[in-house]
Amino acid sequence: MGLIYAVLMLVSLHSVVASDYQGDALFALKTSLNASPSQLSDWTQNQVSPCTWSNVNCDSNYVISVTLSSMGFSGTLSPKIGILKRLSTLSLQGNGITGGIPEEFGNLSSLTSLKLENNHLTGQIPSTLGNLKKLQVLILSQNNLNGSIPESIMGLSKLNRLQLDSNDLSGEVPEKLFQVPTYNFTGNHLNCGVNFSHVCESGNDTTEVSNRPKLGITFGIVGSVIGLLLLGGLLFLVWKIRHKGWRREVFFNVSGEDDRQIAFGQLKKFAWRELLLATDNFSEENVLGQGGFGKVYKGVLADNTMIAVKRLTDYESPGGEAAFLREVEMISVAVHRNLLRLIGFCTTLSERLLVYPFMQNLSVAYHLRELKLGEPVLDWRTRMKVALGTARGLEYLHEHCNPKIIHRDVKAANVLLDEDFEAVVGDFGLAKLVDVRKTHVTTQVRGTMGYIAPEYLSTGKSSERTDVFGYGIMLLELVTGQRAIDFSRLEDDVLLLDHVKKLEREKQLDVIVDGNLNRNYDSQEVKMMIQIALLCTQSPDDRPLMSEVLRMLEGEGLTERWEEWQQVEVTRRQENERLQRRFDHFGEDSIYNQIAIELSGGR
Ligand SMILES: *[C@@H]1O[C@H](CO)[C@@H](O)[C@H](O)[C@H]1NC(C)=O
Ligand SMILES: *[C@@H]1O[C@H](CO)[C@@H](O)[C@H](O)[C@H]1NC(C)=O
Ligand SMILES: *[C@@H]1O[C@H](CO)[C@@H](O)[C@H](O)[C@H]1NC(C)=O
Ligand SMILES: *[C@@H]1O[C@H](CO)[C@@H](O)[C@H](O)[C@H]1NC(C)=O
Ligand SMILES: *[C@@H]1O[C@H](CO)[C@@H](O)[C@H](O)[C@H]1NC(C)=O
Repeated sequence: MGLIYAVLMLVSLHSVVASDYQGDALFALKTSLNASPSQLSDWTQNQVSPCTWSNVNCDSNYVISVTLSSMGFSGTLSPKIGILKRLSTLSLQGNGITGGIPEEFGNLSSLTSLKLENNHLTGQIPSTLGNLKKLQVLILSQNNLNGSIPESIMGLSKLNRLQLDSNDLSGEVPEKLFQVPTYNFTGNHLNCGVNFSHVCESGNDTTEVSNRPKLGITFGIVGSVIGLLLLGGLLFLVWKIRHKGWRREVFFNVSGEDDRQIAFGQLKKFAWRELLLATDNFSEENVLGQGGFGKVYKGVLADNTMIAVKRLTDYESPGGEAAFLREVEMISVAVHRNLLRLIGFCTTLSERLLVYPFMQNLSVAYHLRELKLGEPVLDWRTRMKVALGTARGLEYLHEHCNPKIIHRDVKAANVLLDEDFEAVVGDFGLAKLVDVRKTHVTTQVRGTMGYIAPEYLSTGKSSERTDVFGYGIMLLELVTGQRAIDFSRLEDDVLLLDHVKKLEREKQLDVIVDGNLNRNYDSQEVKMMIQIALLCTQSPDDRPLMSEVLRMLEGEGLTERWEEWQQVEVTRRQENERLQRRFDHFGEDSIYNQIAIELSGGR
């Protein structure tokens, strides 16, 4: 008894000591920020643990997040908080904080997100920030920071967002920083080198990597003239379309010029013969893959450009050409770094074809499962990058295209990799193309078994939520390297989703990580990806939007949603078990299983 008591005393003494220094550090921050008496009034010096304080979150008595954004603070940052070894998120944006960023911030070794934008910070970016090996998000925009970007920042291999725009920074931007998935360096006096010089110029809208050319672009004086001419051209087109209906001449043939802003401009109408020659008469040897909408062939044009030609399946009705062209035009307007750009099309009486650039690194599915001997495995960092890039592409389709585009066949096989291994989502916008002639006959479920959301399967109605489901399954593919449906797994585990859920319950997630990674992965990130995947595959109304998925990937808001998920899941399982006991094997999961297996058998 006495011993137990002594141990308890020691444990509680330890936690008092542990919280004490954290409380001191946070109190020092409150003081240095010049908090008014009414601000953070529950942050008091004589309290044992800061874990109950507002705007502070703890995990096992250690402070893991401090969020003090837009609270009107005007003081400085206290170096004392450098002692918070477990702090993962520090958000102080949108205040009027002055002074410098303390070097001691480099001691926050668990930090994943540091947001200090929109303050009045001065001085240099401390090179000690290069010690924050877990940092994923670093936002210092809109301050008065000067000096150069410290080289040490290059060592932050987890970084997926780096925003330093609108400061007083000078010197060179190390080229390696352009590999960070999202960055913004505009509004400084930086030199971005020959290859990225455009990125550093102020007022250039194509600053971010995930650049999407906007039509409302800021033109200079010369630009306005060009703009007026373009506008005139567009009006003329609209007039023509109104008077003559959609006709072939709507699509210009512009040869070779890189004019990304004008969507129609680059769309080329190919002759059937040209594509026959390019693909060697559509020879089976050139088949790159087969999706829900038709086969894809590799081809080489007369000028040696490599292309991928999609030959839409079961196309019959010649009457739908106008509708076809309208859809093609819609696809061609979706221009985004993470979307496969349409370069042209071809129509004949019995064929509809789409022409895309050839992606030299093929598909993500290829790198997960079809690698030839000696080819390198897709490393974990690239997998994370693919998850982000794909999310960005889909978010663009759902939330920035008008009308929005539902992909309907999101899977690793439809995510391609360009020469920099950046994810490029292909095969979007095709659903309407093939279904045009069928709309009055049946609503056909298009997609690939194992990726199709249960509600789409049962109602035939797709929405962006069905894409989110497919995206979730794709994340599981990235983690496991396995197929969405695999009959070689145990009976209950045929569906990858069920398999992962089971291992998640048993806390055995490490078992499922792709063995090809040879244990070279970040288990926190694996956990994050699986949690997001499970959030994406829950019942439709609870699924996050792609923009929310993006934020979670960048380290925001996952914890809360995951807690909700676990609660819902526990209730759902209990309910299922209750039903199962009553009706034996008619639980929700098994119904889905059955449908999925029956349908996939036919393919
Ligand atoms: C914290 O950072 C400062 C300055 O970077 C350094 O001198 C100090 O040794 C660090 N303290 C700890 C406890 O790591
Ligand atoms: C940066 O700004 C500070 C004042 O905030 C100034 O003292 C310092 O000389 C500047 N450094 C550089 C490299 O411009
Ligand atoms: C610019 O890019 C080219 C091609 O990617 C590369 O060969 C060259 O080294 C780059 N230039 C600089 C200054 O890094
Ligand atoms: C903006 O960037 C583009 C390249 O993406 C470049 O061609 C253009 O000159 C830049 N415009 C300005 C105003 O800096
Ligand atoms: C980059 O930063 C500038 C200046 O802060 C801002 O105006 C611009 O919108 C940002 N670019 C993107 C693509 O977010």
